[in-house]
Amino acid sequence: MEDILSGKKDGSNILKWKIMASLFYEPSTRTRLSFETAMKRLGWEVITVANEWNTSLSKWETLEDNAKINGIYSDILVMRHPEIGSVERTAKATNKPVINAWDGSNQHPTQALLDVYTIFKERWTLENLQISIVWDLKYGRTTHSLVFLMGLYKGVSFKFISPEELKMPEKVTSFLKENNIHFEETINYKTGITNSDVIYVTRLQKERFSDISEYERLKNNFILTKDVLNSAHIDVTIMHPLPRVNEVSPEVDTLPNAAFFRQAENGIPIRMALLSILLWK
Ligand code: CP
Repeated sequence: MEDILSGKKDGSNILKWKIMASLFYEPSTRTRLSFETAMKRLGWEVITVANEWNTSLSKWETLEDNAKINGIYSDILVMRHPEIGSVERTAKATNKPVINAWDGSNQHPTQALLDVYTIFKERWTLENLQISIVWDLKYGRTTHSLVFLMGLYKGVSFKFISPEELKMPEKVTSFLKENNIHFEETINYKTGITNSDVIYVTRLQKERFSDISEYERLKNNFILTKDVLNSAHIDVTIMHPLPRVNEVSPEVDTLPNAAFFRQAENGIPIRMALLSILLWK
């Protein structure tokens, strides 16, 4: 019985005994459902929390106690939470692997993995690329993780296109400076994308603004249209982690180099690979 409970021995059905706790304390479509699809395509099982109010965190249970319990019930935890550092605290409280599905405005590392995989599939190289990253660079955690990962490849440079209020945080720019990786910052969309191989657009993170009038003032400033794209190479790869609000005009969707839905699809094989590596023992 103990062997079955621990998932170590179940004859022909052994793969069924891996369980992922899918812990999403902030909304998600792509990350949660692609992780769950990845588990199921591997023949494994999922238990799900789709909002904090369904859990004992809403009864003031600590993250640490909650993590211990989720680690008892499952073999791996995938967690999204609004607080920076919350996933790291969870990982310290359980002996099961914990995957960061984003922690506040900090990082979204599995998004970076699928983004890099997408860049490779679209461009057939990860070297000597100029990547323009656009819009909410302050709160857009996918951009932070992407820079940390793409910055490892030879000859990669960055253009950060955003208003002053939403500039790339110091933790990211200091990483680039320390590693002598070229980057420029601009508020001009058209000149910022002139020599780009990849344009990576992000959403303005309305939910992170404490002053909603600030959001209202800034929204609609950076919209990628076919007219804006006339300033870029015809084959520039257009990416967006999604969801979008209105920062990529639907007229762009039909361009062959609009890669954002392929990018979302790439989340499944990347997350299957990651789960296999961590669970296949
Ligand atoms: N890209 C991404 O993280 O999307 P979701 O918020 O829908 O998971």
